[in-house]
Amino acid sequence: MTFRLRLGVNIDHVATIRNARGGEHPDPVRAAEVVASVGGDGITAHLREDRRHIRDKDLVRIQAATALPLNLEMAATDEMVEIALRHRPQAACIVPERREERTTEGGLDAAGQHNRLAPIVSRLGDAGIRVSLFIAPEVRQLDAALRLGAPVVEFHTGEYAHAEGEERAVELKRLADMAALAAKNGIEPHAGHGLTYDNVQPVAAIPQLAELNIGHYLIGEAIFIGLEASVRRMRELMDAARPSTSSG
Ligand code: PXP
Repeated sequence: MTFRLRLGVNIDHVATIRNARGGEHPDPVRAAEVVASVGGDGITAHLREDRRHIRDKDLVRIQAATALPLNLEMAATDEMVEIALRHRPQAACIVPERREERTTEGGLDAAGQHNRLAPIVSRLGDAGIRVSLFIAPEVRQLDAALRLGAPVVEFHTGEYAHAEGEERAVELKRLADMAALAAKNGIEPHAGHGLTYDNVQPVAAIPQLAELNIGHYLIGEAIFIGLEASVRRMRELMDAARPSTSSG
């Protein structure tokens, strides 16, 4: 059975533009409101260690402004765990974080960091926060997520998005196989990173995927066509890739 694929919109880069001038405009909260008004299913925000885009007070304001679930992307640090426990987002996606990187460049090494991640996954889970691990679509990482008891994994689609031709087909198959394996093992698979109007549909067509999280492209496109239109277009493309669910 196919079900409606949720769209979580990552609004970090509205805050990136705001912070470039140090004022209040453009406000990521307004972006969250627009996403809610056009049928987005969730707001995704990454509170980075260096606060380069989203800031602590944005989290409170986003949660107050919309009823949409907040998916907090966070590094596996004590500071971020305390923040998540304070703000109680609906979901927390644990991502690797290196200060020098421009964006989240690879998946979390869930396999190599079991001991670090285990108490974090259980503390967040005990607080009622749905924990997701942002991992590469690899059996080893999925096995590690299973051992950690994570209810959700988000597969990093960066390799797929950057690949071309034959290689893209290989990456797509990897995503499809891993989504099926996750679902078979009771883990809800999500996907995200580098998705655009041009590459989203084959991913959206993977039937086990429950959610896509998309940011940079949607915010970039909003410069030209507005955020409402940019989110609507992505929604249409996702629905068209799952025709049986297009009525929502
Ligand atoms: N999902 C996760 C876990 C992310 O860290 C990001 C941002 O890197 C995204 C989704 C969205 O990626 P993009 O901004 O490339 O659409």
